[in-house]
Amino acid sequence: MPLQNYLEQNKERFLNELLELLRIPSISADTKYSADVNRAAEFVKQQLLNAGVDKAEICPTKGYPVVYAEKIIDATLPTVLVYGHYDVQPADPLELWNSPPFEPVVKDGNIYARGACDDKGQMYMHVKAFEMLVKNNVLPCNVKFMIEGEEEIGSVNLEPFAVANKEKIKADVILISDTSMIANDVPSITTGLRGLTYLEVEVTGPNRDLHSGVYGGAVANPINILCDMISSLHDKDRRVNIPGFYDGVEEVSKQERDMMASAPFSLEEYKAHLDINEVLGEKNYSTLERVSIRPTLDVNGIWGGYIGQGAKTVLPSKAFAKISMRLVPNQSSEKIMKLFEEHFNKIAPAYVKVKVMPHHGGEAAVTPTDSIAYKAASKAMEKTFGKTPIPLRTGGSIPIVTMFERVLGIKSVLFGFGLDSDAIHSPNEKYGLFNYYKGIETLPYFYQYFAEMSEK
Ligand code: BES
Ligand code: MN
Ligand code: MN
Repeated sequence: MPLQNYLEQNKERFLNELLELLRIPSISADTKYSADVNRAAEFVKQQLLNAGVDKAEICPTKGYPVVYAEKIIDATLPTVLVYGHYDVQPADPLELWNSPPFEPVVKDGNIYARGACDDKGQMYMHVKAFEMLVKNNVLPCNVKFMIEGEEEIGSVNLEPFAVANKEKIKADVILISDTSMIANDVPSITTGLRGLTYLEVEVTGPNRDLHSGVYGGAVANPINILCDMISSLHDKDRRVNIPGFYDGVEEVSKQERDMMASAPFSLEEYKAHLDINEVLGEKNYSTLERVSIRPTLDVNGIWGGYIGQGAKTVLPSKAFAKISMRLVPNQSSEKIMKLFEEHFNKIAPAYVKVKVMPHHGGEAAVTPTDSIAYKAASKAMEKTFGKTPIPLRTGGSIPIVTMFERVLGIKSVLFGFGLDSDAIHSPNEKYGLFNYYKGIETLPYFYQYFAEMSEK
Protein backbone atom coordinates (compact mmCIF):
# COMPACT_ATOMS: atom_id res chain seq x y z
CA MET A 1 0.00 0.00 0.00
CA PRO A 2 1.36 3.45 -0.89
CA LEU A 3 0.23 4.64 2.54
CA GLN A 4 2.91 2.56 4.20
CA ASN A 5 5.57 4.39 2.16
CA TYR A 6 4.02 7.73 2.97
CA LEU A 7 4.11 6.87 6.67
CA GLU A 8 7.75 5.76 6.46
CA GLN A 9 8.75 8.94 4.66
CA ASN A 10 6.93 11.26 7.04
CA LYS A 11 7.51 9.50 10.35
CA GLU A 12 9.81 12.13 11.73
CA ARG A 13 7.56 15.04 10.84
CA PHE A 14 4.51 13.22 12.27
CA LEU A 15 6.39 12.88 15.55
CA ASN A 16 7.71 16.44 15.61
CA GLU A 17 4.25 17.88 15.07
CA LEU A 18 2.90 15.89 18.01
CA LEU A 19 5.81 17.05 20.18
CA GLU A 20 4.93 20.63 19.28
CA LEU A 21 1.35 20.09 20.44
CA LEU A 22 2.60 18.44 23.64
CA ARG A 23 4.64 21.56 24.44
CA ILE A 24 1.42 23.55 24.89
CA PRO A 25 0.27 23.22 28.53
CA SER A 26 -3.46 23.06 27.74
CA ILE A 27 -4.67 22.31 31.27
CA SER A 28 -8.41 22.97 31.24
CA ALA A 29 -8.84 22.70 35.01
CA ASP A 30 -6.56 25.63 35.80
CA THR A 31 -7.55 29.09 34.51
CA LYS A 32 -3.90 30.14 34.66
CA TYR A 33 -3.44 28.18 31.44
CA SER A 34 -6.45 29.50 29.53
CA ALA A 35 -4.31 31.19 26.84
CA ASP A 36 -2.48 27.89 26.31
CA VAL A 37 -5.72 25.93 26.06
CA ASN A 38 -6.86 28.31 23.32
CA ARG A 39 -3.46 28.07 21.64
CA ALA A 40 -3.83 24.29 21.50
CA ALA A 41 -7.18 24.73 19.75
CA GLU A 42 -5.55 27.02 17.16
CA PHE A 43 -2.76 24.52 16.63
CA VAL A 44 -5.19 21.66 16.03
CA LYS A 45 -7.22 23.78 13.61
CA GLN A 46 -4.10 24.72 11.63
CA GLN A 47 -2.90 21.11 11.47
CA LEU A 48 -6.29 19.95 10.23
CA LEU A 49 -6.11 22.55 7.46
CA ASN A 50 -2.60 21.38 6.55
CA ALA A 51 -3.82 17.80 6.51
CA GLY A 52 -6.40 18.63 3.85
CA VAL A 53 -9.83 19.39 5.33
CA ASP A 54 -12.17 21.63 3.27
CA LYS A 55 -12.75 23.87 6.22
CA ALA A 56 -11.78 24.11 9.87
CA GLU A 57 -13.18 26.43 12.48
CA ILE A 58 -12.82 27.35 16.12
CA CYS A 59 -16.35 27.19 17.52
CA PRO A 60 -16.75 29.20 20.70
CA THR A 61 -18.70 27.77 23.64
CA LYS A 62 -19.28 29.11 27.14
CA GLY A 63 -15.97 27.47 28.01
CA TYR A 64 -13.13 26.39 25.74
CA PRO A 65 -13.87 26.12 22.02
CA VAL A 66 -14.59 23.06 19.94
CA VAL A 67 -12.40 22.64 16.88
CA TYR A 68 -14.63 21.54 14.03
CA ALA A 69 -13.40 20.51 10.59
CA GLU A 70 -14.70 18.50 7.68
CA LYS A 71 -13.95 17.04 4.30
CA ILE A 72 -17.05 16.12 2.38
CA ILE A 73 -16.17 14.25 -0.80
CA ASP A 74 -19.63 12.96 -1.71
CA ALA A 75 -22.84 13.50 0.24
CA THR A 76 -24.06 10.01 -0.68
CA LEU A 77 -21.07 8.33 0.99
CA PRO A 78 -20.97 7.49 4.71
CA THR A 79 -19.60 10.03 7.17
CA VAL A 80 -17.25 9.38 10.09
CA LEU A 81 -17.14 11.90 12.95
CA VAL A 82 -13.82 11.83 14.81
CA TYR A 83 -14.00 12.98 18.42
CA GLY A 84 -11.00 13.74 20.62
CA HIS A 85 -9.80 16.27 23.18
CA TYR A 86 -6.92 18.73 23.14
CA ASP A 87 -7.09 19.58 26.85
CA VAL A 88 -5.05 17.68 29.44
CA GLN A 89 -5.05 16.99 33.17
CA PRO A 90 -2.95 19.08 35.56
CA ALA A 91 0.60 17.75 35.79
CA ASP A 92 1.10 17.75 39.55
CA PRO A 93 2.83 16.47 41.55
CA LEU A 94 5.60 18.00 39.44
CA GLU A 95 8.45 16.67 41.58
CA LEU A 96 7.60 13.10 40.60
CA TRP A 97 8.25 13.69 36.89
CA ASN A 98 11.60 12.56 35.50
CA SER A 99 11.43 15.32 32.90
CA PRO A 100 9.20 18.42 32.74
CA PRO A 101 5.64 17.47 31.70
CA PHE A 102 5.46 20.00 28.88
CA GLU A 103 8.95 19.42 27.51
CA PRO A 104 8.36 16.09 25.78
CA VAL A 105 11.25 13.66 25.53
CA VAL A 106 11.49 10.51 23.44
CA LYS A 107 13.21 7.78 25.39
CA ASP A 108 13.30 3.99 25.07
CA GLY A 109 10.58 4.02 22.43
CA ASN A 110 8.19 6.21 24.42
CA ILE A 111 7.10 9.83 24.28
CA TYR A 112 7.01 11.25 27.83
CA ALA A 113 4.74 14.27 28.39
CA ARG A 114 1.40 15.23 29.91
CA GLY A 115 -1.20 14.39 27.26
CA ALA A 116 1.15 12.08 25.32
CA CYS A 117 -1.52 9.37 25.43
CA ASP A 118 -4.56 11.17 26.92
CA ASP A 119 -5.50 12.43 24.44
CA LYS A 120 -3.12 14.47 22.27
CA GLY A 121 -1.14 11.50 20.97
CA GLN A 122 -4.24 9.45 20.24
CA MET A 123 -6.18 12.36 18.78
CA TYR A 124 -3.28 13.42 16.57
CA MET A 125 -3.05 9.92 15.04
CA HIS A 126 -6.39 10.76 13.44
CA VAL A 127 -5.10 13.98 11.93
CA LYS A 128 -2.14 12.12 10.41
CA ALA A 129 -4.14 9.10 9.22
CA PHE A 130 -6.51 11.54 7.52
CA GLU A 131 -3.57 13.37 5.94
CA MET A 132 -2.29 10.09 4.51
CA LEU A 133 -5.66 9.27 2.97
CA VAL A 134 -6.09 12.74 1.47
CA LYS A 135 -2.56 13.19 0.11
CA ASN A 136 -2.68 9.77 -1.51
CA ASN A 137 -6.13 10.40 -2.97
CA VAL A 138 -7.70 7.38 -1.31
CA LEU A 139 -10.12 8.89 1.20
CA PRO A 140 -13.15 6.59 0.80
CA CYS A 141 -15.79 8.54 2.76
CA ASN A 142 -16.62 11.87 4.37
CA VAL A 143 -14.82 12.85 7.55
CA LYS A 144 -15.72 15.37 10.26
CA PHE A 145 -13.62 16.30 13.26
CA MET A 146 -14.92 17.53 16.60
CA ILE A 147 -12.01 18.08 18.98
CA GLU A 148 -12.99 19.60 22.33
CA GLY A 149 -11.06 21.34 25.09
CA GLU A 150 -13.07 20.48 28.19
CA GLU A 151 -13.08 16.69 28.40
CA GLU A 152 -10.98 16.60 31.53
CA ILE A 153 -13.39 18.94 33.32
CA GLY A 154 -16.59 17.12 32.42
CA SER A 155 -17.42 18.34 28.87
CA VAL A 156 -20.16 20.58 30.29
CA ASN A 157 -20.44 22.76 27.17
CA LEU A 158 -20.36 19.98 24.61
CA GLU A 159 -24.02 19.01 24.92
CA PRO A 160 -25.27 22.53 24.10
CA PHE A 161 -22.79 22.54 21.18
CA ALA A 162 -24.10 19.19 19.91
CA VAL A 163 -27.72 20.31 20.28
CA ALA A 164 -27.07 23.57 18.41
CA ASN A 165 -25.06 21.87 15.64
CA LYS A 166 -26.98 18.64 15.06
CA GLU A 167 -27.04 19.01 11.27
CA LYS A 168 -23.42 20.07 10.97
CA ILE A 169 -22.02 17.16 12.98
CA LYS A 170 -24.42 14.57 11.59
CA ALA A 171 -22.56 11.32 10.88
CA ASP A 172 -22.98 7.57 10.64
CA VAL A 173 -20.55 6.78 13.42
CA ILE A 174 -18.35 8.51 15.98
CA LEU A 175 -14.78 7.32 16.09
CA ILE A 176 -12.86 7.92 19.32
CA SER A 177 -9.30 7.03 20.26
CA ASP A 178 -9.17 7.82 23.97
CA THR A 179 -8.99 4.35 25.58
CA SER A 180 -6.44 1.57 25.89
CA MET A 181 -5.79 -1.95 24.62
CA ILE A 182 -4.65 -4.99 26.61
CA ALA A 183 -1.08 -5.05 25.29
CA ASN A 184 0.86 -4.22 22.16
CA ASP A 185 0.64 -7.86 21.08
CA VAL A 186 -2.91 -8.33 22.43
CA PRO A 187 -5.14 -5.81 20.64
CA SER A 188 -8.57 -5.11 22.09
CA ILE A 189 -11.45 -2.75 21.43
CA THR A 190 -13.30 -1.08 24.29
CA THR A 191 -17.01 -1.94 24.33
CA GLY A 192 -18.06 -0.30 27.56
CA LEU A 193 -17.14 2.60 29.82
CA ARG A 194 -18.24 3.34 33.36
CA GLY A 195 -20.27 6.37 34.39
CA LEU A 196 -19.28 8.76 37.13
CA THR A 197 -20.70 10.67 40.08
CA TYR A 198 -18.25 13.06 41.71
CA LEU A 199 -18.88 15.09 44.84
CA GLU A 200 -17.29 16.75 47.79
CA VAL A 201 -18.30 16.49 51.46
CA GLU A 202 -17.72 18.83 54.36
CA VAL A 203 -18.06 17.74 57.98
CA THR A 204 -18.19 20.42 60.66
CA GLY A 205 -17.71 19.83 64.37
CA PRO A 206 -17.10 22.68 66.83
CA ASN A 207 -17.30 26.24 65.55
CA ARG A 208 -13.50 26.71 65.73
CA ASP A 209 -10.28 24.72 65.97
CA LEU A 210 -9.77 23.59 69.55
CA HIS A 211 -6.83 22.56 71.75
CA SER A 212 -6.83 18.78 71.44
CA GLY A 213 -5.80 18.39 75.08
CA VAL A 214 -8.28 20.80 76.57
CA TYR A 215 -11.26 19.54 74.51
CA GLY A 216 -10.08 16.19 73.09
CA GLY A 217 -12.17 13.28 74.35
CA ALA A 218 -15.29 15.33 74.96
CA VAL A 219 -15.99 16.98 71.59
CA ALA A 220 -16.33 15.03 68.34
CA ASN A 221 -13.37 15.42 66.01
CA PRO A 222 -14.82 15.88 62.49
CA ILE A 223 -11.86 14.11 60.87
CA ASN A 224 -12.36 11.05 63.08
CA ILE A 225 -16.08 11.15 62.31
CA LEU A 226 -15.54 11.58 58.56
CA CYS A 227 -13.24 8.52 58.62
CA ASP A 228 -15.92 6.51 60.45
CA MET A 229 -18.54 7.62 57.95
CA ILE A 230 -16.34 6.82 54.96
CA SER A 231 -15.39 3.40 56.24
CA SER A 232 -19.05 2.57 56.74
CA LEU A 233 -19.61 3.11 53.01
CA HIS A 234 -18.26 -0.39 52.24
CA ASP A 235 -19.43 -3.63 53.80
CA LYS A 236 -17.26 -6.65 54.63
CA ASP A 237 -17.59 -7.93 51.06
CA ARG A 238 -16.39 -4.57 49.73
CA ARG A 239 -19.82 -3.76 48.35
CA VAL A 240 -20.96 -0.17 48.46
CA ASN A 241 -23.15 0.25 51.52
CA ILE A 242 -25.60 2.86 50.25
CA PRO A 243 -29.24 1.71 50.10
CA GLY A 244 -30.41 1.47 46.49
CA PHE A 245 -26.88 1.76 45.07
CA TYR A 246 -27.10 -1.55 43.18
CA ASP A 247 -30.74 -1.15 42.09
CA GLY A 248 -31.08 -2.11 38.46
CA VAL A 249 -27.38 -2.92 38.01
CA GLU A 250 -27.27 -5.51 35.28
CA GLU A 251 -25.72 -8.87 35.99
CA VAL A 252 -23.46 -9.33 33.01
CA SER A 253 -24.14 -12.52 31.06
CA LYS A 254 -22.16 -15.67 31.72
CA GLN A 255 -20.98 -15.52 28.13
CA GLU A 256 -19.45 -12.07 28.59
CA ARG A 257 -17.94 -13.03 31.96
CA ASP A 258 -16.41 -16.16 30.42
CA MET A 259 -14.95 -14.05 27.67
CA MET A 260 -13.43 -11.70 30.24
CA ALA A 261 -12.02 -14.63 32.15
CA SER A 262 -10.30 -15.88 29.01
CA ALA A 263 -8.73 -12.52 28.17
CA PRO A 264 -4.98 -12.66 28.70
CA PHE A 265 -4.43 -11.14 32.11
CA SER A 266 -1.86 -11.98 34.78
CA LEU A 267 -2.81 -11.04 38.33
CA GLU A 268 0.79 -11.64 39.41
CA GLU A 269 2.11 -9.14 36.85
CA TYR A 270 -0.65 -6.70 37.77
CA LYS A 271 0.36 -6.78 41.43
CA ALA A 272 4.06 -6.62 40.65
CA HIS A 273 3.49 -3.64 38.41
CA LEU A 274 1.75 -1.75 41.24
CA ASP A 275 4.05 -3.07 43.95
CA ILE A 276 1.18 -4.46 46.04
CA ASN A 277 0.95 -7.84 47.77
CA GLU A 278 -2.77 -8.31 47.35
CA VAL A 279 -5.66 -6.82 45.43
CA LEU A 280 -8.91 -5.76 47.09
CA GLY A 281 -12.38 -5.50 45.66
CA GLU A 282 -15.96 -6.72 45.60
CA LYS A 283 -16.33 -10.34 46.61
CA ASN A 284 -17.08 -12.90 43.88
CA TYR A 285 -15.71 -10.78 41.03
CA SER A 286 -12.36 -10.98 39.27
CA THR A 287 -9.99 -8.04 39.05
CA LEU A 288 -10.91 -7.37 35.41
CA GLU A 289 -14.60 -7.46 36.36
CA ARG A 290 -14.10 -5.19 39.34
CA VAL A 291 -12.62 -2.49 37.13
CA SER A 292 -15.15 -2.69 34.32
CA ILE A 293 -18.58 -4.20 34.96
CA ARG A 294 -18.96 -3.34 38.67
CA PRO A 295 -19.70 0.03 40.29
CA THR A 296 -17.34 1.40 42.93
CA LEU A 297 -16.83 4.17 45.46
CA ASP A 298 -13.48 5.84 46.12
CA VAL A 299 -12.15 8.72 48.17
CA ASN A 300 -10.03 10.84 45.82
CA GLY A 301 -8.76 13.24 48.44
CA ILE A 302 -9.24 13.90 52.13
CA TRP A 303 -8.05 16.80 54.21
CA GLY A 304 -8.55 18.92 57.29
CA GLY A 305 -6.74 19.96 60.46
CA TYR A 306 -3.01 20.59 60.56
CA ILE A 307 -0.88 19.28 57.68
CA GLY A 308 2.04 21.71 57.90
CA GLN A 309 5.53 20.91 59.17
CA GLY A 310 6.02 19.41 62.60
CA ALA A 311 3.21 18.75 65.05
CA LYS A 312 0.36 20.96 66.14
CA THR A 313 -2.06 19.67 68.73
CA VAL A 314 -5.43 20.60 67.35
CA LEU A 315 -8.95 19.28 67.29
CA PRO A 316 -10.10 20.73 63.96
CA SER A 317 -13.40 22.35 63.25
CA LYS A 318 -13.80 20.89 59.74
CA ALA A 319 -12.96 17.87 57.60
CA PHE A 320 -13.34 17.43 53.85
CA ALA A 321 -13.23 14.69 51.24
CA LYS A 322 -13.67 14.33 47.48
CA ILE A 323 -15.54 11.17 46.65
CA SER A 324 -16.28 9.54 43.31
CA MET A 325 -18.42 6.63 42.31
CA ARG A 326 -17.88 4.75 39.04
CA LEU A 327 -21.16 3.55 37.62
CA VAL A 328 -22.32 0.84 35.26
CA PRO A 329 -25.25 0.66 32.82
CA ASN A 330 -28.71 1.29 34.35
CA GLN A 331 -27.33 3.40 37.20
CA SER A 332 -28.21 7.05 36.77
CA SER A 333 -25.50 9.46 37.79
CA GLU A 334 -28.08 11.93 39.09
CA LYS A 335 -29.96 9.31 41.07
CA ILE A 336 -26.77 7.98 42.63
CA MET A 337 -25.90 11.54 43.67
CA LYS A 338 -29.26 11.79 45.45
CA LEU A 339 -28.88 8.40 47.12
CA PHE A 340 -25.43 9.34 48.38
CA GLU A 341 -26.62 12.70 49.67
CA GLU A 342 -29.57 11.16 51.52
CA HIS A 343 -27.47 8.38 52.97
CA PHE A 344 -24.61 10.61 54.02
CA ASN A 345 -26.98 12.97 55.81
CA LYS A 346 -28.71 10.03 57.44
CA ILE A 347 -25.54 8.46 58.85
CA ALA A 348 -24.22 11.80 60.13
CA PRO A 349 -24.20 11.62 63.93
CA ALA A 350 -25.81 14.44 65.93
CA TYR A 351 -22.44 15.87 66.97
CA VAL A 352 -21.47 17.03 63.45
CA LYS A 353 -23.10 18.87 60.55
CA VAL A 354 -22.51 17.63 57.00
CA LYS A 355 -22.73 19.19 53.55
CA VAL A 356 -22.63 17.34 50.23
CA MET A 357 -21.57 19.36 47.19
CA PRO A 358 -22.04 17.76 43.75
CA HIS A 359 -19.43 18.05 41.00
CA HIS A 360 -19.75 16.64 37.49
CA GLY A 361 -21.02 13.26 36.41
CA GLY A 362 -21.82 11.14 33.42
CA GLU A 363 -23.50 7.94 32.37
CA ALA A 364 -21.96 4.57 31.60
CA ALA A 365 -21.82 3.46 27.98
CA VAL A 366 -21.96 0.16 26.16
CA THR A 367 -21.10 0.09 22.48
CA PRO A 368 -22.33 -2.57 20.05
CA THR A 369 -20.07 -5.24 18.56
CA ASP A 370 -22.45 -6.17 15.74
CA SER A 371 -22.31 -2.82 13.93
CA ILE A 372 -20.56 -2.21 10.63
CA ALA A 373 -18.30 0.29 12.38
CA TYR A 374 -17.20 -2.18 15.07
CA LYS A 375 -16.55 -4.84 12.45
CA ALA A 376 -14.53 -2.38 10.38
CA ALA A 377 -12.43 -1.45 13.41
CA SER A 378 -11.92 -5.10 14.31
CA LYS A 379 -10.87 -5.98 10.77
CA ALA A 380 -8.51 -3.00 10.62
CA MET A 381 -6.72 -4.13 13.78
CA GLU A 382 -6.62 -7.69 12.51
CA LYS A 383 -4.91 -6.39 9.39
CA THR A 384 -2.16 -4.45 11.17
CA PHE A 385 -1.71 -6.49 14.37
CA GLY A 386 -2.22 -9.89 12.79
CA LYS A 387 -4.73 -10.79 15.53
CA THR A 388 -8.46 -10.29 16.03
CA PRO A 389 -8.94 -7.71 18.80
CA ILE A 390 -10.75 -8.78 21.96
CA PRO A 391 -13.90 -6.79 22.82
CA LEU A 392 -13.58 -5.66 26.43
CA ARG A 393 -15.25 -3.17 28.75
CA THR A 394 -13.09 -0.80 30.71
CA GLY A 395 -13.32 1.23 33.88
CA GLY A 396 -12.70 4.82 32.78
CA SER A 397 -15.38 7.28 31.77
CA ILE A 398 -16.07 9.29 28.63
CA PRO A 399 -19.47 10.77 29.44
CA ILE A 400 -20.02 12.24 25.99
CA VAL A 401 -20.43 8.77 24.46
CA THR A 402 -23.89 8.40 26.01
CA MET A 403 -24.63 12.08 25.41
CA PHE A 404 -23.97 11.71 21.65
CA GLU A 405 -26.22 8.68 21.53
CA ARG A 406 -29.00 10.51 23.34
CA VAL A 407 -28.74 13.85 21.52
CA LEU A 408 -27.59 12.77 18.04
CA GLY A 409 -28.66 9.14 17.93
CA ILE A 410 -25.12 8.16 16.87
CA LYS A 411 -23.13 5.28 18.37
CA SER A 412 -19.40 5.35 18.93
CA VAL A 413 -16.50 3.03 18.33
CA LEU A 414 -13.86 3.23 21.08
CA PHE A 415 -10.77 2.61 19.01
CA GLY A 416 -7.96 3.28 21.48
CA PHE A 417 -4.28 2.38 21.09
CA GLY A 418 -2.95 3.31 24.55
CA LEU A 419 -1.91 0.99 27.35
CA ASP A 420 -3.04 1.02 30.98
CA SER A 421 0.63 1.42 31.87
CA ASP A 422 0.81 4.75 29.99
CA ALA A 423 0.24 6.51 33.32
CA ILE A 424 -2.49 8.85 32.11
CA HIS A 425 -3.36 11.49 34.76
CA SER A 426 -0.15 10.45 36.61
CA PRO A 427 3.45 11.69 36.61
CA ASN A 428 5.55 10.47 33.67
CA GLU A 429 2.62 9.92 31.33
CA LYS A 430 3.84 8.32 28.14
CA TYR A 431 2.75 7.03 24.76
CA GLY A 432 4.66 4.40 22.83
CA LEU A 433 6.07 5.28 19.42
CA PHE A 434 4.85 1.82 18.43
CA ASN A 435 1.32 2.79 19.49
CA TYR A 436 1.41 6.18 17.79
CA TYR A 437 2.58 4.82 14.46
CA LYS A 438 0.47 1.67 14.69
CA GLY A 439 -2.60 3.83 15.20
CA ILE A 440 -1.73 5.96 12.18
CA GLU A 441 -1.22 2.80 10.15
CA THR A 442 -4.46 1.16 11.33
CA LEU A 443 -6.96 4.03 11.07
CA PRO A 444 -6.92 4.24 7.24
CA TYR A 445 -8.00 0.60 7.09
CA PHE A 446 -10.94 1.47 9.31
CA TYR A 447 -12.09 4.04 6.74
CA GLN A 448 -11.55 1.62 3.88
CA TYR A 449 -13.48 -1.25 5.48
CA PHE A 450 -16.18 1.00 6.89
CA ALA A 451 -16.85 2.50 3.44
CA GLU A 452 -16.78 -0.94 1.76
CA MET A 453 -19.09 -2.59 4.28
CA SER A 454 -21.49 0.38 4.26
CA GLU A 455 -22.05 -0.07 0.52
CA LYS A 456 -23.53 -3.52 0.89
N1 BES B 1 -9.44 9.10 28.26
C1 BES B 1 -9.96 9.13 29.59
C2 BES B 1 -10.94 8.00 29.88
C3 BES B 1 -10.40 6.61 29.77
C4 BES B 1 -9.09 6.31 30.08
C5 BES B 1 -11.21 5.60 29.38
C6 BES B 1 -8.62 5.01 29.97
C7 BES B 1 -10.76 4.32 29.28
C8 BES B 1 -9.43 4.01 29.57
C9 BES B 1 -10.65 10.48 29.82
O1 BES B 1 -9.84 11.54 29.37
C10 BES B 1 -10.84 10.69 31.31
O2 BES B 1 -9.87 10.86 31.98
N2 BES B 1 -12.09 10.67 31.79
C11 BES B 1 -12.37 10.98 33.17
C12 BES B 1 -13.79 11.44 33.34
C13 BES B 1 -14.03 12.89 33.06
C14 BES B 1 -15.48 13.23 33.33
C15 BES B 1 -13.12 13.80 33.85
C16 BES B 1 -12.20 9.76 34.05
O3 BES B 1 -12.44 8.63 33.59
O4 BES B 1 -11.88 9.96 35.21
MN1 MN C 1 -9.09 11.24 27.48
MN1 MN D 1 -8.28 11.94 30.94
